[in-house]
Amino acid sequence: MATLTNRDIVRVLVLVVAFLGTISGRVDAEMAALVPKPMKGEFAHGAVTLNDSTRIIHEGDATKTEAEMLATLLRPATGLPLKVEPMPSPAGKLGNVIVLTIDSALGRDLGNEGYRLEVPTTPIIRIAAAAPAGLFYGGQTLRQLLPSAIFDATKQSGVKWEVPCCRIEDKPRFPWRGLLLDEGRHFFGMKFVEHYIDLLAAHKLNVLHWHLTEDQGWRIEIKKYPKLTEIGSWRDQTEGDGKRYGGFHTQNEIREVVAYAAARHVTIVPEIEMPGHSLGALTAYPQFSCTGGPFKVRTRWGVEDDVYCAGNDATFDFVGDILDEVLTLFPSTFIHIGGDECPKTRWKTCPKCQARIKAEGLKNEHELQSYFIRRIEDRLGAKGRRLIGWDEILEGGLPPRATVMSWRGMGGATAAAQSGHDYVATPTSHCYLDFPLKTIGVEKAYSFEPIPTTLTTLQQAHCLGVQGNMWTERTPTAADIDRQTWPRLCALAEVGWTPKELRNPSDFQTRLESHIRRLQKMGVKIKVPGKTN
Ligand code: ACM
Ligand code: ZN
Repeated sequence: MATLTNRDIVRVLVLVVAFLGTISGRVDAEMAALVPKPMKGEFAHGAVTLNDSTRIIHEGDATKTEAEMLATLLRPATGLPLKVEPMPSPAGKLGNVIVLTIDSALGRDLGNEGYRLEVPTTPIIRIAAAAPAGLFYGGQTLRQLLPSAIFDATKQSGVKWEVPCCRIEDKPRFPWRGLLLDEGRHFFGMKFVEHYIDLLAAHKLNVLHWHLTEDQGWRIEIKKYPKLTEIGSWRDQTEGDGKRYGGFHTQNEIREVVAYAAARHVTIVPEIEMPGHSLGALTAYPQFSCTGGPFKVRTRWGVEDDVYCAGNDATFDFVGDILDEVLTLFPSTFIHIGGDECPKTRWKTCPKCQARIKAEGLKNEHELQSYFIRRIEDRLGAKGRRLIGWDEILEGGLPPRATVMSWRGMGGATAAAQSGHDYVATPTSHCYLDFPLKTIGVEKAYSFEPIPTTLTTLQQAHCLGVQGNMWTERTPTAADIDRQTWPRLCALAEVGWTPKELRNPSDFQTRLESHIRRLQKMGVKIKVPGKTN
């Protein structure tokens, strides 16, 4: 055998180092492939492996529910028993455990949604938080630290359920991290909505803005007005295709979805559109329009001229009654009342609307819209709720306590904040998930900054957060929605959660490659992002 020269040895060493480099590079990428990226994270060598004897221990008030939720999320793919138990007293030797602890002192730095996750080499994984939401998000991070197979709905054999050693401290940048799902244009049903709630929670998104009423369909059972769903939830066809479309959620189903969401720290904000986008309702109850109808649930996309009559007090009783039932179903502080794209055509020629303008000393139909929204805000405010509406509610004067959802760019956000109102940023330029990927690529969505530079520090505090909007005119199936929503919503989730200074597009793209495997395991029909999207 030939003797090795020094040069040969150096060559071999270089190869070995390069090989190890690839391995550790891959492991680092896996370890760091958290989406959204946490505020602080340190990784060390070593890992803790979940096994048959791993238990989930809860310590402190209100932690049992979170421990059970974590077990529910980790059991299907692992097939492990993951028994949930209270902290023994005295604690003694715990063995292989995940410990969830409420520690109110953490609230000062991490708030209610923040958490600390520690995975030392001892097999004790600790998640501590000031409140249950933080424990839940610590659990979501733990899930992402496991192999991506953890996201599969069925038992995965031959996987080592390793969690890399780390210490993570994390909290969200904004309190509102949302997705709008439009069931007005197409109806998808309970199971789909629950699946989307799972997906939101896995991305630490916490608001499902549920768009439930439209010109093209009414989707929520209202006991006092049964025709809303009997008549208003079906349209004869779409753009001349000759097929009937429809469906609605019963109140029992809605209660179930709301509870399902709450258990995953997702708040459902219902949207009941007014005064425009209301032809579904007006087809069922035409007496609340300006002309009296008759109407048909709209069979074309676009905006309908027939809207609620703002001159008729009975209209306010009608929408007020609807909202009263909505409030019994949805405990959310915010109630979205739409307010967008309300043509003033009918109001201009309606004697009742014109009489209202005169009687109230309003300047024009824009002020009549403000009057409408203000009456609704009074009603919601009296019940301890907050009104949120699209940025058109600024036109003709913003009601005193209203929150603005800025969609036509960020002008509405700026105007709201400058006049002391809260806003949620969801401009078409970055947040409209129904727009083609060619128009809003993943990088573009990722580049979104929800706080305009023109705002003072005080005004910046009015930014509640960010939301992606999934309008469904052109996405009739669940797979269509998946392809539009992901991975752009991952980008917006990071905009909403991660400190601005930590956002880095190329690092995000790298993490996204691993993250897409998780989405696929969750059953998402996802388009893998190329360089151009
Ligand atoms: C909207 O896109 N009409 C809010
Ligand atoms: Zn009218």
